[in-house]
Amino acid sequence: MLHAVARPQSDAPTHCVAEQYADMYRRSIEDPDGFWLEQAQRLDWYRVPTRGGEWSWDPVDIKWFADGSLNLCHNAVDRHLEVRGDDTAIIFEPDDPSGDGRTLSYRELHREVVRMANALKAMGVAKGDRVTIYMPMIVEGVTAMLACARIGAVHSVVFGGFSPEALAGRIEDCESRFVVTADEGLRGSKRVPLKANVDAALAEPDHDTPIDGMLVIRHTGADIAMTEGRDHWFHEVASDADCPCEEMAAEDPLFILYTSGSTGKPKGVLHTTGGYGVWTATTFHYVFDYRPGEIYWCTADIGWVTGHSYIVYGPLMNGATSLVFEGVPNYPDHGRFWEVVDRHKVNILYTAPTAIRALMREGDDHVRQRDRSSLRLLGSVGEPINPEAWRWYFDVVGEGRAPIVDTWWQTETGGVMITTLPAAHDMKPGSAGLPFFGIEPQLVDNEGAVLEGEAEGNLCITASWPGQARTVYGDHERFVQTYFTAYKAKYFTGDGCKRDADGYYWITGRVDDVINVSGHRMGTAEVESALVLHPKVAEAAVVGYPHDIKGQGIYCYVTLNAGEEGSDELYAELRNWVRQEIGPIATPDHMQFTDGLPKTRSGKIMRRILRKVAENDYGALGDTSTLADPSLVDRLIDGRRNR
Ligand code: WTA
Repeated sequence: MLHAVARPQSDAPTHCVAEQYADMYRRSIEDPDGFWLEQAQRLDWYRVPTRGGEWSWDPVDIKWFADGSLNLCHNAVDRHLEVRGDDTAIIFEPDDPSGDGRTLSYRELHREVVRMANALKAMGVAKGDRVTIYMPMIVEGVTAMLACARIGAVHSVVFGGFSPEALAGRIEDCESRFVVTADEGLRGSKRVPLKANVDAALAEPDHDTPIDGMLVIRHTGADIAMTEGRDHWFHEVASDADCPCEEMAAEDPLFILYTSGSTGKPKGVLHTTGGYGVWTATTFHYVFDYRPGEIYWCTADIGWVTGHSYIVYGPLMNGATSLVFEGVPNYPDHGRFWEVVDRHKVNILYTAPTAIRALMREGDDHVRQRDRSSLRLLGSVGEPINPEAWRWYFDVVGEGRAPIVDTWWQTETGGVMITTLPAAHDMKPGSAGLPFFGIEPQLVDNEGAVLEGEAEGNLCITASWPGQARTVYGDHERFVQTYFTAYKAKYFTGDGCKRDADGYYWITGRVDDVINVSGHRMGTAEVESALVLHPKVAEAAVVGYPHDIKGQGIYCYVTLNAGEEGSDELYAELRNWVRQEIGPIATPDHMQFTDGLPKTRSGKIMRRILRKVAENDYGALGDTSTLADPSLVDRLIDGRRNR
């Protein structure tokens, strides 16, 4: 096998070894309904489904397990009470290592979820209502999600790093009338004014959905403003009253999660209950080869899909112990991850290449000073992992003992789609690996012709899987346009990909106008819209460029209104402006003032040229003769060189 790293062997029983994978994969493709109805038995159902996938991608209409009914909070919490009520469900590790940590058994988690669900009900939240959750990484973030699932409300978690403007758009889009937040969040000892941000979001001039209720968790104890009649302290309204789980149809919505696309505003990706539940429970079981009693830590934030599927639903539906970390990898120092691993004897660590690269840069000592002997399995997610970072993760962090699963998936896929399985497959540094059960990846060229064997092309998926998103909230046409139109009757991922002779998949990155900054998806159009809102900016074009730590950095070309001059002050002002409009994750890494953007005679911006210039790759600019002003290219290159 080409460039493969043999999977480290262990004597522990595993859920899937090589021979089983081949058989199970074949069955999952030949008889998907049989396969998935069987996997569905991992969950408790009120009405056990007899129907598998009922879907079409032309027109687009997707259903799984449509005659079944269940509740995912019951599956994540209540059903464990009898067998493992005293087992640890959640370990909370605070931002400050000497702060108040917490450990909750499944029984304690149940109580907290019920209290949260009662608090939501007391505000008037009912089945089908959208609830916006804008929280730090604390236990109540998790219980707020589960409480929504319990009463049949649809959660829409908004990452706590987003600005009031970004939050307002996400509240407005799904007409959410309820918000759950905290007084403040903490990240690397910095305070994040969450409640004040919500207040600012609701005061936005174009915000017109009235908010019926806001639930506020007291976390740091900061002094905050409460609006009488609208805002409620969680600890004042929570109650232990009985609160049964709502019976949900398999296709009832579970959550909306906003994600960036090539055009326009972020889309509210909608996931439903049964299919998402089966997908996350099954993928968690096999991909992490989870064994009872193990401590599992996913370092993502619940504001992203990785947090939804692999901090909350996947692990808890499997009765696992899931570690919830409030902090950041470099506070109080670069050894924090390994200190947490040792303190809680973490067996499975799931993190992002950007964190691995940032820690690798700080040298091996922080890692080697810690024991880390508990680590059994390592995972990577969010962006392609470069082979050097992979090697460091494998050799230094895992000491060659822990297999790595490099899991490729997306907000829209609900859970892992391409990965090696730890006991079944050898690994290749930089390759996500092989398709998960039920997944048939396909590579196509730009005209849509299917590429066989060893090839490079655009990554599509040919058949529906239970965890697939069902629509874009309130805009089904956009769902159809975004994913099912480029290549007829295929799901198009937006990623480029290579397949090697062994059938391993190597994701090469986005092929659309989405960039991946530190594992976070960012639409270049969003940053452009933020820039042009500034009174001095006439036009802006944003592209990604290779960045050592972040994977991709944000490169902005900006043309100013007549009479304005580019200056260091304006540079700093615009950077700050984007942070305010979207949030710190959208901070431009590089800005270039230019007197024009390269456009065709019909006015279309030639991003290819902007990308090449940003990459410092001037030899490969391609044909520039169709530009309205070909001389602009030299000026752009000069501008790039002069920074
Ligand atoms: C990228 C995150 C390479 C990819 C779960 C995808 C990856 C986008 C990997 C989805 C990986 C995610 N290797 N690229 N292992 N995992 N990506 O929706 O470009 O935040 O389309 O979901 O991240 O980002 P999203």
